[in-house]
Amino acid sequence: MARALLILPTGTYRAADFIEAAAALDAEVIVASEEDMVLADQLGDGFLLIDCSRPEESARRIVELGDRQPLDAIVPVDDQGVLIAALAAEQLGLTHNPPAAVAATRNKVMLRRALADAEIPQPAHELAGVPDDVAGLAEVIGYPVVLKPLSMSASRGVIRADDADEARGAAERIRRILAVAGHNPSEPILIEQYVPGIELAVEGVLRGGELEVLAFFDKPDPLEGPFFEETLFITPSRLHPEMLDEVERVAARAIRAIGLREGPVHAELRVDGSRVVFLEAAARSIGGLCGRSLRFGLLGTPLEVVLLRHALGRPHRKIRREDPASGVMMLPIPRAGILSAVQGTDRALEVPGVTEMEITIPPGRRVWPLPEADRYLGFLFARGPTPEDVEEALREGFACLDIVIDSD
Ligand SMILES: Nc1ncnc2c1ncn2[C@@H]1O[C@H](COP(=O)(O)OP(=O)(O)O)[C@@H](O)[C@H]1O
Ligand SMILES: [Mg+2]
Repeated sequence: MARALLILPTGTYRAADFIEAAAALDAEVIVASEEDMVLADQLGDGFLLIDCSRPEESARRIVELGDRQPLDAIVPVDDQGVLIAALAAEQLGLTHNPPAAVAATRNKVMLRRALADAEIPQPAHELAGVPDDVAGLAEVIGYPVVLKPLSMSASRGVIRADDADEARGAAERIRRILAVAGHNPSEPILIEQYVPGIELAVEGVLRGGELEVLAFFDKPDPLEGPFFEETLFITPSRLHPEMLDEVERVAARAIRAIGLREGPVHAELRVDGSRVVFLEAAARSIGGLCGRSLRFGLLGTPLEVVLLRHALGRPHRKIRREDPASGVMMLPIPRAGILSAVQGTDRALEVPGVTEMEITIPPGRRVWPLPEADRYLGFLFARGPTPEDVEEALREGFACLDIVIDSD
């Protein structure tokens, strides 16, 4: 029986989907995760304690385990595990990405530098350390700009600024967000030229450095700032096929420049008229539970099965996304407070085309909207004959919901 080690960081949304995928492929699972007594008790020998903030040490533990119990795959389901997986898989001779390449996907300025060396179209940018004059650097780029921390995700701390006051205010706010998240509040902040236009996500899998696009997602809600809340992801894209070809070319060149070679890749690009600008890439598949919107072939094979098959080195089968259009809405958090309830879910599920909904924050927990938000509230899924049908179903489903947040 094949054995796969899944790196499941605390707070991952994807444990169940990957464990199910392993069962579908008859693979034994070992879970590498952070402190979790319940999981450790339940899994016994199938549990390995790691610390995602210490990639080298965690990789060493995995290699020790792999020496005792041979592993066939190491799968980092989220961003926090990608470097650990690359380091451990390299030593154990398993399918992996170069550690330096995944490290670049975890640090926004390293990524920009790798892309600049290969002349990939990307936003003009400057790095602002603590003593630097944020507004002066923004002026060099030209307003509007986008300020962002180097190593966060899900748009946390990403803020648009249209003038010097806003730029200084954004930098202060980012430093507070870093401090709350336990990062060094004095770490440099990236300032980028604001790229207008429409945004797409490219979901792909890499095999020996070759990009196979699994889906293009449109993000039909405007993402113009000051905060960048991702809500709708809908596939197939409605962009002109020739533009999609260009998006794919730029994404493939960028991924090559970063050095990623194996496994899932999630890239984000903007299309401004005829110009395609590369924003970023991660060495994982789409975030949160959004992967559930992707199914393949006549049997509707889940994304996680496709990725696990690749990680296990099983023979490559050409796959195609299923025919219907599909989409997901990441439910926005409207304001700060204590989440009391999400009402109207029954009605939302009755909307034609809506297929599934999951609320991922329990009632009673404190929530924040962006740019501070640190969790997704939930996910609403729909399918339909066309992307327009899916978008309508998701909007209608969302309109049924009443997200009740109490002031504190
Ligand atoms: N230079 C930019 N120009 C325009 N929008 C941007 C720019 N950088 C980021 N954004 C917006 O902010 C979102 C989050 O930024 P991103 O760099 O992808 O960070 P994260 O790792 O948090 O996803 C992007 O999806 C995009 O909508
Ligand atoms: Mg992003």
